[in-house]
Amino acid sequence: MKLPEEIKSAIIAAGQEHLLSYDSAELAAQLCAIDWKALPELITNYVLRKPEVSIPDDVKPAPYFPLVPRNSAEEERKNAAFAKGEELLKQGKVACLTVAGGQGTRLGFDAPKGTYPIGPVSGRTLFEYFAQSIARAEEKYGAPIKWYVMTSALNRSATEKFFRERNNLGLREDQVFFFTQGTMPAIGYDGKLLLASSDSLALSPDGHGGTLLALRKSGALDQMKKDGIEYISYFQVDNPLVPVVNPLFIGMHALENSEMSAIMLAKTNAFEKLGNFCICNGKLEIIEYSDLPAELAESRNPDGSLRFISGSPAIHVISRTFVEQLTASGRLKLPWHRADKKIPCIGNDKPETPNGVKLESFIFDALALAGKTLVLEGNRAEMFAPTKNPTGVDSVESCREMLIARDLRRLKAAGVAVEDNVKVELSPRRVFDDADAIEVVKELKLAKLTSGTNAVIPE
Ligand code: UD1
Repeated sequence: MKLPEEIKSAIIAAGQEHLLSYDSAELAAQLCAIDWKALPELITNYVLRKPEVSIPDDVKPAPYFPLVPRNSAEEERKNAAFAKGEELLKQGKVACLTVAGGQGTRLGFDAPKGTYPIGPVSGRTLFEYFAQSIARAEEKYGAPIKWYVMTSALNRSATEKFFRERNNLGLREDQVFFFTQGTMPAIGYDGKLLLASSDSLALSPDGHGGTLLALRKSGALDQMKKDGIEYISYFQVDNPLVPVVNPLFIGMHALENSEMSAIMLAKTNAFEKLGNFCICNGKLEIIEYSDLPAELAESRNPDGSLRFISGSPAIHVISRTFVEQLTASGRLKLPWHRADKKIPCIGNDKPETPNGVKLESFIFDALALAGKTLVLEGNRAEMFAPTKNPTGVDSVESCREMLIARDLRRLKAAGVAVEDNVKVELSPRRVFDDADAIEVVKELKLAKLTSGTNAVIPE
């Protein structure tokens, strides 16, 4: 591909003429995809200047529907929501969406994160956890559940290859829809776009905010509409404890006519690395842990509890029509977030200190654009075990422990006597919820698990 003259002029006008020193078809294609008119402003506001995170003076903790209803009205609302969610699932109106485009740098795992073998006994991968759970939920509700998997340009082919090699993880061919998020060029501190090589800009995924536009551009939204899907059950690839569909959450979202809803968890401490649910200028927002000033993070209610108690496990229900509206023009203006990074580039292939900026948008910034939102408290032990690090907090280790603890709790609730030192994994292909665990225990006539057991149930 040759670079058209008007693009050349736009590049020069944007002060990026260094990009014209190389003659490469691949680079030319990348340069044609850039919005050169918007770029200078982006560079001024986010790179040359360090954007201030502005927290309005009237920031307040966001209200939420509590895990344990406080009165009979809430109890009724909860029951009605659960029934509604089950009805919507039985009608096939729900699809799953997993964001799996991240680079998983902290985990130090080179392949796509979803291919990480997280199963504490089975070594089942993250993707397999979700796939098998989706298959079981589908069986349970008797209606199809499609799975939309968002990758980045960097990990799309490796992800698809993994699914292909494992028989689509047991799902039907047309059940899984891969789509790719956009990319953003990395920018050096001098405001110049960085080149990874003479053939390519230094590009990186545009953040999970890119999901919304990518849903439209890939044709996923159209397909959802054709299939009668109204609600998107959204979760991150790093969290195998998440219920892939949550009838209570889906039902409450629908009954409240919410456009975008979120699960909140009570934070374990003031500085837990979770986004914080806040009301800013009357709108629901998630303020990242890194952006919430310490005095707010640590502020307390008169009873000693944290004021900003609500942390985000990044679990959402999003109405399809909301995504359609947001992206109708083929563009979506979410704010950019700046991350200072070490970016290998021509002239500096192993930077030891950050040498530039990557820009990402966040899907939760769409909450402020929704006419109606809802926050529902979730039970951490039942839905959040993120795999971010190899060890320690939010790690492979803690995730496996939580998966085992959840399954042991289910087995005990189903009447099984469990001795100490037992490691079990309930197969997600058979056990989607507590009721499934009760059935399995009956089928297997399982009364006791003795010390030293190390098993997948059913095998
Ligand atoms: C994220 C949330 C945080 C939340 C926490 C819960 C952000 C900015 N923050 O933090 O509010 O409390 O999870 O675990 O997301 N991804 C893409 N494309 C991208 C970037 C990320 O698909 O361009 C996906 C990743 O594959 C992953 C998810 O988004 O599934 C989260 O990304 P990650 O960078 O791990 O976010 P955290 O900082 O851990």
